[in-house]
Amino acid sequence: MIDLHCHLLPGLDDGPDTLEESLALCRRAVEDGITHSVVTPHVHPGRYANDARNIAPAVALLREALAAEDIPLALGFSGEVRISPEILPMVQSGLVPFHGEWEGRRVMLLEFPHSHLPPGSDKLVRWLLQRDIIPLIAHPERNKDVMRDLARLHEFVQLGCLFQVTAGALAGRFGEVAEQRAREIVTAGWATVLASDAHNLGARPPVLSEGLAVAVDLLGEPAARALVQENPWRIVASQFRGAE
Ligand SMILES: [Fe+2]
Repeated sequence: MIDLHCHLLPGLDDGPDTLEESLALCRRAVEDGITHSVVTPHVHPGRYANDARNIAPAVALLREALAAEDIPLALGFSGEVRISPEILPMVQSGLVPFHGEWEGRRVMLLEFPHSHLPPGSDKLVRWLLQRDIIPLIAHPERNKDVMRDLARLHEFVQLGCLFQVTAGALAGRFGEVAEQRAREIVTAGWATVLASDAHNLGARPPVLSEGLAVAVDLLGEPAARALVQENPWRIVASQFRGAE
């Protein structure tokens, strides 16, 4: 399986603090059947000052450690970009990392604040689309506005956004409302991928299998498998070509 959203790099955000913790997360991912992880440190100006310049060398260090420990996990990288006006100049100066491409557009993992959908979010999405960047919206099932009213997602569906549902939310790790929303988003056919959004071995582990099992119940085996294999691979394959 391919995990497109996880925090596995040490010391860059609220994921693992040490290399040992990172390696433990990577081992857990492999145990779960994950072969490729695209690490996505928070890119959140004012909170986590990450961008393409510091993420790439951190990935290189973790890849070396994985090789030294014989842990068979291929790493790609991108970022989880918090929606804000500050990201516009970052996009224009090439500092925002992308996952890869979907139908000729670059894919950006875009995060709304959990508290609400900020006014003007649709404008920012349109601005990105005009630049051939397609947002992959992170964990919509945990946004408070969406938890109150699923219909708040409609305009983003109509704009053509992709959606990343968190596997653990489908499995009930984030409470009943998030679980219900996750099930609705998957059943509606809006989910493009399931991802772990892993941060630690406790409440937020690098595990896709439990969410996949729920998706199989909802969609059947082939459509559920597409959420953890075909679709994520379609987005990120370019990062791994030549590395295998
Ligand atoms: Fe995340």
